[in-house]
Amino acid sequence: MEEIGTSFLPIPPSTASPPHLDEDDPKDVLNSIHPPRPDWYEELFAFVMAKGSKAYEAQVAGFKSQIFTNLRGKDKTVLELGIGTGPNLKYYASDNGVRVFGIDPNRKMEKYAQAAAAAAGLPPENFKFIHAVGEVLPLSDASVDAVVGTLVLCSVKDINMTLKEVMRVLKPGGLFLFVEHVAAKDGTILRFAQGILDPLQQTVSDGCHLTRKTGKCISEAGFSAVDINTAFVSVACILGPHVYGIAFK
Ligand SMILES: C[S@@+](CC[C@H](N)C(=O)[O-])C[C@H]1O[C@@H](n2cnc3c(N)ncnc32)[C@H](O)[C@@H]1O
Repeated sequence: MEEIGTSFLPIPPSTASPPHLDEDDPKDVLNSIHPPRPDWYEELFAFVMAKGSKAYEAQVAGFKSQIFTNLRGKDKTVLELGIGTGPNLKYYASDNGVRVFGIDPNRKMEKYAQAAAAAAGLPPENFKFIHAVGEVLPLSDASVDAVVGTLVLCSVKDINMTLKEVMRVLKPGGLFLFVEHVAAKDGTILRFAQGILDPLQQTVSDGCHLTRKTGKCISEAGFSAVDINTAFVSVACILGPHVYGIAFK
């Protein structure tokens, strides 16, 4: 009954059951974790992210600048999880020889991410958009210097599986830079409101969860050190509580 009740929605609220995967078929893996959404839905979400994030980006610019300075240096290979429209590229694309892999299951993000890469001065050969999910990264073990994830661990289907993949692809000593909205403190009115609105948020924002304790997941993911900060981003309203920082493999 429940399936019938929610099947008309582009993104029904998630259930607890893990996806069944045929590990040998990358398309099957991608579709199991992130079932294809209607074209109009992907296009609309990409458009809203591209045009509607200016005030948010202005408010987080301070702490993004702070953590992205850690990517300075030559010839870095960076993987961005759920790159979306590419709002972070300007923070590191002008660095000497940086190569960026941006993965995202929403193909409609690609044109915006490519434009952001070009605007940031990244040569086309140094930016590759890959249609993939964070839970199964199409990169070899210990192959990147840094992984970047902003507003994405709220949206992946399986946060712990994604963090395991982050650890796998990072070189020893590699960095994981993150900025994520998280659940408000237990017992607060904001946390109560997040609980009520969580199913709706998942439906209208492509699987985004309001109540994840992402900081705790990152802290417990097995990094050798985690430098984690909290902030409240007021323009983000119900998404206000944030964690940001760097984890070291
Ligand atoms: C709220 S947007 C954030 C995009 C971008 N990182 C930013 O900071 O603006 C969430 C992004 O995560 C992507 N996403 C959803 N599920 C994902 C998954 N399983 N793995 C990787 N990315 C995913 C979405 O397509 C979307 O681009």
